[in-house]
Amino acid sequence: MTTSVRAWFPTLIYAERLQARGLRAFNLELLDECRRIRDYDAAGRRWSAANYPLGYTSYGSLDRLHRFSSTFDLLRQRIDPHVAAYARALDWDLQGGRLEMTDCWINVMPRGCAHSFHVHPQAVVSGTYYVATPQGCAGLKFEDPRLTKMMAAPGRRARARPEQRPHISYPARAGQVILFESWLRHEVPASPVDAERVSISFNYHWR
Ligand code: NI
Repeated sequence: MTTSVRAWFPTLIYAERLQARGLRAFNLELLDECRRIRDYDAAGRRWSAANYPLGYTSYGSLDRLHRFSSTFDLLRQRIDPHVAAYARALDWDLQGGRLEMTDCWINVMPRGCAHSFHVHPQAVVSGTYYVATPQGCAGLKFEDPRLTKMMAAPGRRARARPEQRPHISYPARAGQVILFESWLRHEVPASPVDAERVSISFNYHWR
């Protein structure tokens, strides 16, 4: 890009390890709890059978797990500083308010389970924490939010710089937190591996 052209209006996506140490033990604890909740959550398994083919999510049944479980509340306490850092990167003026986790739910994706493009209405920050990410499992794919405005614009070259491409995929890595603004469309493509990919998704509201 020449110096006469500058980029404006960036879309910021945050990705960072949850914590420097103790991730493995914490993830084993979370994974065990995710599986126990799935076993216990008959309503969630029914909801998933109708709305989340092949997989399990507690989105339709237990979507405030940080209020239900001390392990999930500990996860919330560890995600809060990342959300604060993300808000600073966005230059947000919270006007004395705060960003608060409102929803938090489990996603278990076996082979073939997908979650097509969507946004998270009413929230301001959304994200995912990865608990178990078998090798080769699907990542998180984001779409350029301007795509619907492009009308007759030419497509982009296959070898375009990454920030100019219409989609960007973040690999799923256990122990990593990904944050994005809730209006940004994203999807999880069908998981191509046999082992279960386990993640915890969440929303933050501005209060
Ligand atoms: Ni989502």
